[in-house]
Amino acid sequence: MKIAILASHGGSNMQAVLDAIACGRLGMEPSIIISNNRKAYALERAAAAGIPHRVLNGTTHPEPADLDQAILAALRESGTDIVLLAGYMKKLGPATLSHFDGRIVNIHPSLLPKFGGQGMYGSRVHEAVLASSETETGVTIHLVDGAYDEGRILAQTPVPVLPEDTVETLAARVLEREHRFLVETLVRVSKGEIPL
Ligand code: GRF
Repeated sequence: MKIAILASHGGSNMQAVLDAIACGRLGMEPSIIISNNRKAYALERAAAAGIPHRVLNGTTHPEPADLDQAILAALRESGTDIVLLAGYMKKLGPATLSHFDGRIVNIHPSLLPKFGGQGMYGSRVHEAVLASSETETGVTIHLVDGAYDEGRILAQTPVPVLPEDTVETLAARVLEREHRFLVETLVRVSKGEIPL
């Protein structure tokens, strides 16, 4: 199973997946790393790991339909079977969504459907969790459809919210859980225990 990873920023979840592949824990092969952000640290990680990587965005392809086709072509040419969005901040276009329907996976730092949807990313998610006085948040891994954070949920795990939490402490706890849970979930996907 060849996995492509799309990431916009740091790529720490991407790194967790690459590490799990490198040590033989996850039986997948990285096909390509794509970022919309040419300054994404995820691209440096991809280069360091010797994995093909591309920048595809509104500068390389000003027409949205062209960008969609370029992303689709990069995924197909690299033999990608499954696409992981790991902190990818852009919506995929209709051609890519339809070709990889049911094979695009996203990780979100809350227990969806809580604290999801347009504009709910990064520290905003954790700010909203703290503002709502929830005692529990978590991580969701789900399939991607055309809407933000609404595809079928594949797996979820809770993370406690502590009374003294700030956005930073909560974000760090959730991210640390994300790294482990993403790998655990992809292992289950690769073994067919979680059907896509
Ligand atoms: C993670 O919190 C992920 O859930 C969300 O974006 C963040 C990406 O972090 N979709 P990183 O780039 O993997 O460090």
